[in-house]
Amino acid sequence: MNTVKTVRELRAAVARARGEGKRIGFVPTMGNLHSGHAALVTKAAQRADFVVASIFVNPLQFGANEDLASYPRTLVADQARLLEAGCNLLFAPTVEEMYPEGTAAQTRVSVAQLSEGLCGASRPGHFEGVATVVNKLFNMVQPDLAVFGEKDYQQLAVIRAMVRDLNMPIQIFGEPTVRAEDGLALSSRNGYLSPEQRVIAPVVYRTLTQVAEGLRRGRRDYRALLDEGRAQLEAAGLRTDYLEVRHALSLRPAQLDDRDLVVLVAAFLGNTRLIDNLYVHLEQPSA
Ligand code: PAF
Repeated sequence: MNTVKTVRELRAAVARARGEGKRIGFVPTMGNLHSGHAALVTKAAQRADFVVASIFVNPLQFGANEDLASYPRTLVADQARLLEAGCNLLFAPTVEEMYPEGTAAQTRVSVAQLSEGLCGASRPGHFEGVATVVNKLFNMVQPDLAVFGEKDYQQLAVIRAMVRDLNMPIQIFGEPTVRAEDGLALSSRNGYLSPEQRVIAPVVYRTLTQVAEGLRRGRRDYRALLDEGRAQLEAAGLRTDYLEVRHALSLRPAQLDDRDLVVLVAAFLGNTRLIDNLYVHLEQPSA
């Protein structure tokens, strides 16, 4: 597996693979890779002949008081993990390579509606930063397909909408969330948790599971169900940012006759913001 740092080298390597008739798969990441990322690369390798991954901690998607400076950068360990998972080429650009005119001058991509609410409400500008960098990476790599984790459910919805609305000839695949044995969704930010917090953190998944179970058992009093979930998170010492039931595709608030639902949560444990979600398909219309 080669690592390249410039767009020129990236384009030359991808052109060589394409010249050999290879189908190009792409997995964008911010590094500090875990088994969840490895699963994305494995999925890309099953569907493409040449897999490109990127590692870039994108300043455009971090708010002023967020963890851009402290976000873990672990390139050497990441390279080993990518190689093992079947990656052929790593693109690891500098900020200057990605934003040669500076971030303030950067043209932005904004995905309407889906970027609003949920994480978009508590992290203003976040999805514009994500859509912009993913758009740039897509233009640099020009993949046939790209794989994203379902853990970042709203992000995946935003990217699917961008690809659809801007007629990008790229197939987007979502890969199920990889969890620790106790249910905690794997995330680079789990590394911020103290040992004591790590013991508490699975309450996030337990809460999602309970809300999902309530829905499956026929409960439609969304507000009361979510209040119970929030109370459980807060009793464990978390601060709920949001806990919501939404329509799984449009992400609008769930209505009584929706059958495809997603329960989404963001909650702070100390300074660490944990997000997770569970998709719920109801056999019968809810109402
Ligand atoms: O999910 C991530 O790691 C990032 O948001 C992404 C898609 C690589 C864009 O920076």
